[in-house]
Amino acid sequence: MAETWANGLDLHLDLTATRVRAQLETALRDAIRSGRLTAGTRLPATRTLAADLGVARNTVAEVYGQLVAEGWLSARTGSGTLVASRVAPAPEPDPAAPGSARRHRHDLRPGEPDLSAFPRGPWLAAARKALDAAPDAVLGYGDPCGLPVLRGVLAEYLARARGVVARPGNIVICSGFAHGLEVLSRALLETGARTLAVERYGHQAHRDVVVRQGLRLHPLPVDASGAVASAAGDADAVLLTPAHQFPLGVTLAPHRRRAFVDRGGIVIEDDYDGEFRYDRQPVGAMQALAPDRVIYCGTASKSLAPGVRLAWLVIPPRLHDAAAAALGGGPSALDQLTLAELISSGGYDRQIRRARLAYRRRRDRLVAALAPLGLQVSGIAAGLHAFLDFPRTASELRAETLASRHGLAVEGLHRYTFGACDRAGLVIGYARPPEHAYTTALARLCAVLASSTGSVIATRSPCG
Ligand SMILES: Cc1ncc(COP(=O)(O)O)c(C=O)c1O
Repeated sequence: MAETWANGLDLHLDLTATRVRAQLETALRDAIRSGRLTAGTRLPATRTLAADLGVARNTVAEVYGQLVAEGWLSARTGSGTLVASRVAPAPEPDPAAPGSARRHRHDLRPGEPDLSAFPRGPWLAAARKALDAAPDAVLGYGDPCGLPVLRGVLAEYLARARGVVARPGNIVICSGFAHGLEVLSRALLETGARTLAVERYGHQAHRDVVVRQGLRLHPLPVDASGAVASAAGDADAVLLTPAHQFPLGVTLAPHRRRAFVDRGGIVIEDDYDGEFRYDRQPVGAMQALAPDRVIYCGTASKSLAPGVRLAWLVIPPRLHDAAAAALGGGPSALDQLTLAELISSGGYDRQIRRARLAYRRRRDRLVAALAPLGLQVSGIAAGLHAFLDFPRTASELRAETLASRHGLAVEGLHRYTFGACDRAGLVIGYARPPEHAYTTALARLCAVLASSTGSVIATRSPCG
């Protein structure tokens, strides 16, 4: 626990020695949300707060940066960091923040597929056909784990497309991966787990979900072979993105997969974009190595659209009851029926094949456009985003700001970092713009990188 008095501000923050960055973020968010810090309040300078709390100045700077990006704080040159004026009742993105799409004509942030490519016609046709054929009973409360027809179709699809070992009875349908993670966190707690190891780079929103349910987080370093199994310590469970690490883009090497499975405990496999591999056949799901220990998670958020709000978990029998009890209400039966019909009619596979080709071309164009600048993305040819290494976090922030001035939203790695920073770079979501806007977005990105390249290619000191 620490208290600090700065700028006449009594800022009481409840911090323990570990997970300082996440805790500081949460403590500041809570203070703003609850009204303890009101709009316009000036926060202490990063140096002052870091000294008061006994943490690295960089940690405080990263926390401020994250909260600016989320809209809780605003940072103006010469005025310092202030509590934003529009924070109540819910966090609003700050339109001035780099990375926010609000005032940007072009958007290369990761996270969303090309929404204009959603298969509206096939979806509507599937909805009509499925509803016409469905018995009335489907419209009742039904099984909270999901409609049997969708679970059956998914068991077959996941075995065929991702090599998952699944029976319909092990599948649970939920409203997106984040919802699934909430359910799994509660199930893990219920069955005695206390700590979840997570990759050092990933979504803050996912970490927040886990912490809100009461699990402690343990950061896992990520290197060229993916997450480091030997760093998992005595964590009860591990959350991984084995097929395509988010956001660094590496794949989890076979020896690491084996090591994670062999260490015991539960592994949550987030296979968010596993269908999208461009240089060869997708690597099968890790779940097949140990179906009794690995929970497989898939989602329609990349393959179709996040607004569909459908995801699926394949859960080992020993956790199934605890997960079912934590479920609450599931997604709409109508949407489940539609997805089942889309998959069984072949429409889902066709959509994936179309999207795979389109995104592969976009990635190729990105790689080709960066080459004359002497820049190369890292990670495998897969997914909906690529990672461009920078030598320093400072260069990454400069590139974000410069892009923002050119009407382009991009995001730096600091937005995804948990714990100590050992890499820097841009996470480029090449799938997001509609097809007609991609050429201009790419040209903007190259212009920004060309003008900031002199400063980007500097001595390698990621946290500078
Ligand atoms: C790493 C990762 N996992 C999972 C998801 C999907 O989340 P959801 O199904 O909640 O939309 C995403 C989407 O951006 C992601 O980036």
